[in-house]
This record gives sequence, structure tokens and C-alpha cells, in this order.
Amino acid sequence: MQFLSRMMRVAIFAAVCIGMLAPVDAFAQAKKQGKSLYDRLGGVYAIAAVVDDFIDRVVANDILNANPAIKEARDRVPAAGLKYRVTEMVCMATGGPCKYTGRSMKESHKHLNITEKEWDALVVNFKESLAKFNVPEKEQNELLTIVGSTKGDIVTVKTMQ
Ligand code: HEM
Repeated sequence: MQFLSRMMRVAIFAAVCIGMLAPVDAFAQAKKQGKSLYDRLGGVYAIAAVVDDFIDRVVANDILNANPAIKEARDRVPAAGLKYRVTEMVCMATGGPCKYTGRSMKESHKHLNITEKEWDALVVNFKESLAKFNVPEKEQNELLTIVGSTKGDIVTVKTMQ
């Protein structure tokens, strides 16, 4: 009986120790596996290089420029400013140290009458830039999910396909 209770005390002590160690172990593992997307992309310079290439494609995209509202804004807004803001946004959204200082996606696109077709044309440009910089497939998919999450605020013209 006395032996059993000693065994139980040892078992409870062991369980408490394991319980205390579990979060430490989980944290160490999360840290090991959990590099932010920002870090996996190579930080803000790598992000800025992709955004630079992407915006260059977007401003020259005939499908987008056929929309007079987009064309007007493209002629009015310096591409360098867009590159800066989109870099800030991607840096922040991927877990980097930046703070996005621009307007919301709804606010900054509401006057542009963006359609599904135009959205698809932009995604093609984005994929071209990601491929050019050899962004790995896993990171490409994570970025496309982030960009995709803004679609509801950006595409305001619903057309029948
Ligand atoms: C077909 C899709 C899109 C088109 C045609 C488009 C076009 C534009 C244009 C013309 C502006 C300047 C508007 C103005 O100041 O009058 C702008 C601003 C901006 N766009 Fe887009 N955009 C698209 C999608 C996106 C996406 C997917 C993102 C990011 C996930 C994005 C991020 C931004 C940002 C951060 C700004 C600057 C907002 C500010 O400075 O306050 N855009 N966009």
C-alpha cells in the first residue's frame, strides 16, 4: 500500500514535470518550424523586388488600361508610390516589421470599377513575378491566399461569365 502511494507520488510528480515542459517543447518546435512567411521570402528587400516587377507589369497591362477609371488613376498616381504602399502591405501581411500606412482596399479601389476579368489579369501578372523570382510553390500559395483575401473589397463590378 505504502509502495503504491509512493509510486503514485512519483507518477504525479512526473506528470507535473511533463506538463510543465510540454509548452516549452511546443514553443521550441513552433519556433523551429514557424519561420514567418516574411522571413521565408527573404525579408523586405526581396518583397520589394517582387513588388517592383509586379507593379511594372500591372501598369503596362492592356486589359487593365482598357478600363478608363483604372487608366485615369494609373496616369495620376506615381507607380513608385504604389510600389511603396504595396511593399508595406505585403511586408506587414506576411508577418514582417512594417506598418501599412495607406487606405483600406475598399477605399482605394472603389472608384475603379474593377471586374472579375481585370482581377484575373492582375493575378496572372502576380504569378509571373513570383515565377521570375523563383518563389517556392508553398510561399507562392500563401501569398496568393493573402492577395485573394482582398478580392471581395476590390472587385466591385460583378459580371456574368
Ligand atoms: C485588378 C486589381 C487591381 C487594380 C486594377 C488596382 C489598381 C490600383 C490603382 C489604380 C490604385 C491607385 C488608386 C488611386 O489612388 O486613385 C491602387 C491603389 C492601391 N492598391 Fe490596387 N489594384 C488592384 C488590386 C490590388 C491588390 C490585390 C492589392 C493588394 C493586395 C492592391 C493594393 C493597393 C494599395 C496598397 C494601394 C495604395 C492605397 C493607398 O495609397 O492608400 N491593389 N490600386
